[in-house]
Amino acid sequence: MRFKLKAVVCVDLNWGIGYRGKLLARIPEDMRLFRRLTLGKTVIMGRGTFESLPAPLEARVNIVLSRSLNANAVLVCRSLDELFLRLEAYPADDVFVIGGEAIYSQLLPHCTQAYVTEIAARFDADRHFADLNQDESWVLRGKSDYKTHHDLRYRFLEYFHNG
Ligand SMILES: NC(=O)c1ccc[n+]([C@@H]2O[C@H](COP(=O)([O-])OP(=O)(O)OC[C@H]3O[C@@H](n4cnc5c(N)ncnc54)[C@H](OP(=O)(O)O)[C@@H]3O)[C@@H](O)[C@H]2O)c1
Repeated sequence: MRFKLKAVVCVDLNWGIGYRGKLLARIPEDMRLFRRLTLGKTVIMGRGTFESLPAPLEARVNIVLSRSLNANAVLVCRSLDELFLRLEAYPADDVFVIGGEAIYSQLLPHCTQAYVTEIAARFDADRHFADLNQDESWVLRGKSDYKTHHDLRYRFLEYFHNG
């Protein structure tokens, strides 16, 4: 593949990512990192995540995986095969996988890197990301100090894929 897929995700200590269609928490510095990483790039999301946004993400190419969605404001791909064909044809050197659970789980094997914001708390969650610490093909190569937002502690982790 010519392009490099990278995952960006915010997890809690159980690797939970969402509950009832929403994020578990909103941390401004995490949002800023997400924006800095993805601005001007291509983002891939599932229909569930797309529908949780107020609008397509500005200044980014928005690709939505869905077999049912009809939308003009974004590129819709009906399958992974269609997505990969689209990415081959598209001059995308940095492509970010931004969720949710269904899309992370299918595209993680194709990702070279994962930017993980880890919140040091445990929330009720009905959507999860794979526990990269239990997967030998993923290696933790970077971690920030803990930071705080109100009563939440969090840190930024960077994993690399050996597979
Ligand atoms: N913490 C984070 O960083 C983060 C990031 C993103 C999202 N989230 C959370 O995750 C939740 C949403 O995630 P989700 O797992 O429910 O939904 P999702 O993964 O965003 O989207 C699932 C949908 O994607 C489509 N899809 C999946 N695989 C496909 C394939 N191979 N080909 C074509 N279409 C495919 C299907 O849409 P159709 O049914 O239309 O076919 C499926 O229903 C929310 O709670 C959100 O807040 C958290």
